Amino acid sequence: MERLLIRGGHRLQGTVQICGAKNAALPQIAASLLSAEPLTLTNMPDVVDVHTMVRLMTHYGVTSTRDSSSVTLKADGARNVEAPYDIVRRMRATLLVLGPLVARFGAARVSLPGGCAIGARPVDLHLKALAVLGATIDLDGGYIVAKAPNGLAGGRIVFGSPSIGATQTALMAATLAKGESEIMNAAREPEVVDLAACLAAMGAQIEGAGTHRIRVQGGQALHAGRHEIVPDRIEAGTYAIAAAITGGHLELTGARLEHLSAVGEALEAAGVRLWPTDRWLMVARDGALRGIDIVTEPYPGFPTDLQAQFMALMTIADGASMIRETVFENRFMHVPELGRLGANITLQGTSALVRGVKALKGAPVMATDLRASVCLVLAGLAAGGETAVSRIYHLDRGYEALDRKLVRCGADIRRVPE
Ligand code: EPZ
Repeated sequence: MERLLIRGGHRLQGTVQICGAKNAALPQIAASLLSAEPLTLTNMPDVVDVHTMVRLMTHYGVTSTRDSSSVTLKADGARNVEAPYDIVRRMRATLLVLGPLVARFGAARVSLPGGCAIGARPVDLHLKALAVLGATIDLDGGYIVAKAPNGLAGGRIVFGSPSIGATQTALMAATLAKGESEIMNAAREPEVVDLAACLAAMGAQIEGAGTHRIRVQGGQALHAGRHEIVPDRIEAGTYAIAAAITGGHLELTGARLEHLSAVGEALEAAGVRLWPTDRWLMVARDGALRGIDIVTEPYPGFPTDLQAQFMALMTIADGASMIRETVFENRFMHVPELGRLGANITLQGTSALVRGVKALKGAPVMATDLRASVCLVLAGLAAGGETAVSRIYHLDRGYEALDRKLVRCGADIRRVPE
């Protein structure tokens, strides 16, 4: 295992290339199972979760070839086997193979994903979507057993609450379900829109992606496709906060401010300047930081995946900030770790009251999940002295070369064995 040693206090200056979105790449890799013809995905991020997903595909007999940031997946020889628990237990997103397997092969046996640090993360909405499309669903010894021997048929899926993953399961399955499907109360995130664009490149007929109502004309076999993965709005938001927390100035190449509107608003209210150009997003902070309140919500609201990072920023703001987490029930594991750096945070149910302090002080801290780990790196960039962040395997799951990118902008970070 490795850890990061960070000596804080350096204002970041420079350019950061934003990668393709991990959370867009994962469902699109699963979508390769929908067709016997090749799917080429470009702008693929080089992160552990993507490697895990590709490894799972090869387990199903999908061949993959990688050429720099482009991956071609071919599922002509795919076979419908059981996903090994050893791979599935590592990543909840492996559940995204369920819809494509049932749609393509008429059956699937996929391990229930364990819970995870940030919450129980049930799968009922995924299963409901497949049942509406005609699959029978049983649970057998920790496995989901889905069957549709006569194939899937179009139907009207109405989600009680928006779910990105369940919307993606429904979308992928509906492309091969005979007839028209409708997905009501669909998630509107850019990663859902990007999956729809990828499926359309494969020949799917989809309308309304990005709105609450998506319609799919399904049943035709999908053909070869090529798609460029959308830039990662969460990575971009993370680096915007890195500029803000160090009082620096970063140019985020490839970042799209329209995918970060709620975050941009919050950062500007806190005293950060953002200005988009046609190729990048400039972020700078040279004045005081103001404490402001935020509530995490489904898109286009403030994303839960940037809550921990924004909290790190608020720990050194003037005044107080109330941060309410409405998406996951346990996404405050970073709070005690921030406390070890001298942050003043009081938890009240699903809200955290952050009282800004003059400065944080470096200390050893431990990462618990992907976004909590990057929150601690951000706090370390601002803290006096040395901060040691351990268990950074969490970080490598979703951020490509984060420490190298920050060092290139003037951060003092070393990756050392634990
Ligand atoms: C996606 O997870 C992301 N993962 C998560 O990113 C992100 O935090 C989350 O969306 C919310 O934005 C990927 O895209 C691979 P949901 P997902 O289904 O799809 C409940 C990261 O850090 N729910 O939108 O699993 C669920 O418990 C990861 O990159 C059900 O009740 O999220 C949660 O409270 C962490 N039943 C809410 O919906 C279901 O069947 C939103 O979850 C499914 C979800």
